Amino acid sequence: MRIAILGTGKVGSALGTRLASTGHHVVHGSRTRAGGAGTLSPREAVASSEVVVTAIPGTAVLGALEAVGDDVLAGRIVLDPSAALTPQMTMAYPGDSVAQQVQARFPRARVVKTLNTMNFTIMVDPLASLPQATVFVSGDDSAAKTVVTALLGDLGWPESSVLDLGGVHTALATEHAAPLFFATVSALGTAKFAISISR
Ligand SMILES: NC(=O)c1ccc[n+]([C@@H]2O[C@H](COP(=O)([O-])OP(=O)(O)OC[C@H]3O[C@@H](n4cnc5c(N)ncnc54)[C@H](OP(=O)(O)O)[C@@H]3O)[C@@H](O)[C@H]2O)c1
Repeated sequence: MRIAILGTGKVGSALGTRLASTGHHVVHGSRTRAGGAGTLSPREAVASSEVVVTAIPGTAVLGALEAVGDDVLAGRIVLDPSAALTPQMTMAYPGDSVAQQVQARFPRARVVKTLNTMNFTIMVDPLASLPQATVFVSGDDSAAKTVVTALLGDLGWPESSVLDLGGVHTALATEHAAPLFFATVSALGTAKFAISISR
């Protein structure tokens, strides 16, 4: 698939490298074009892609997508792994989520929240050390979630690890797992873990 990744930081680089290695055509959209060759403006990157990954601060996602434009986003899948935190690392949008805000603002985009409950190293290497890990997906568009589940497979997530929580409103739950994530990092002294749903 043609995939635009907004952001050239830890998540954007990890996802871009892995997805490109599994045969996808990946371009990075960057404010600064820090990624060098192959890095486009966010609008250019999204315009040439079927999927856009918002690997940027959650508080910057709406603004970045405004710059891309409603017309360009129409029909495209927005895979959103972001977390929206204040500088004090508290929830920036208590009682709300980035994914819901994006879906409400751009109703023609097909938003899927996923990968936001784990460290970037686990996103692209789930089975190596954490075979029981769970990855959540939330979104209103079933076909978009099927595409994203296939991309998760390319990142190393077997379908049995993918838990579809339902509509985009369920992104509220996973975005609000951020305090649990940071408390666990603090307790364990490492970010190399994942949330796992047992039943
Ligand atoms: N790191 C993790 O393990 C992890 C885990 C789960 C979720 N997340 C979430 O994933 C997202 C990316 O995290 P990251 O660790 O990759 O962050 P990062 O290493 O700090 O990189 C973020 C990238 O976003 C772009 N950016 C920064 N500020 C921006 C702004 N105001 N507007 C638009 N773009 C901006 C920058 O790329 P350009 O300068 O090239 O535009 C930057 O390289 C965040 O929402 C984070 O909370 C991270």
